[in-house]
Amino acid sequence: MAITTCVFDAYGTLFDVAAAARQAADEPDFPTLKKKWAAVATHWRLKQLQYSWLRAVTGAHTDFWEVTQNGLDWALEAQGLGDQPALRQRLLDLYWELSAFPEVPDMLAALKTAGFQTAILSNGSPEMLAGAVESAGIGPLLDDVLSVETVGIFKPDSKVYDLVGARFGCATDEVLFVSSNGWDAAAASGYGFSTVWVNRAGEPVDRLPWKPTRILDDLRAIPDIAKG
Ligand code: LAC
Repeated sequence: MAITTCVFDAYGTLFDVAAAARQAADEPDFPTLKKKWAAVATHWRLKQLQYSWLRAVTGAHTDFWEVTQNGLDWALEAQGLGDQPALRQRLLDLYWELSAFPEVPDMLAALKTAGFQTAILSNGSPEMLAGAVESAGIGPLLDDVLSVETVGIFKPDSKVYDLVGARFGCATDEVLFVSSNGWDAAAASGYGFSTVWVNRAGEPVDRLPWKPTRILDDLRAIPDIAKG
């Protein structure tokens, strides 16, 4: 069936999750981060995701803001920066105003002009997502921002992907789901969506029972893919 609805993961897909540590490392108050920001960003993201999966499989849900703070605390301690509360606070503040990748506004505008429905489907709490959407200025280009908090479990539980059909009344094969997380794109393929894995870092394909429908380097070709 033709695609009617384009749905995007948020963190890492529309918003650059490394931007918080990169930006803080450039600020005069945090010289200790200069050489360590990339390791902090990588560990922060990895732990944030691991904690989300572990909480999902054990039924110990909490919101993504809590998991994001837990991941940061692990990452800072691993780099010997666990005793710097001002740095911790600055990184958390920056997470609420992550920059969008440069091609995001034009890509979303092209989808809207072509008549597609557009949305975010994210682990993020509604408050975090509202902050990021507002600071990136992309609210008018999205029909909705769907958060896992509605169902109280993180991706890749199928209840999360169910939110798209419930909101837009579309069949699974009318949905193009776009994520920079290989595991998220793979699981969404298993669910029945057409998927794009945005593989900016050139990583290997995840060894899972499902594969993304397509793999791109960035988001620029999404409108053409949606049009078929
Ligand atoms: C999200 C995380 C998984 O936005 O990137 O859902």
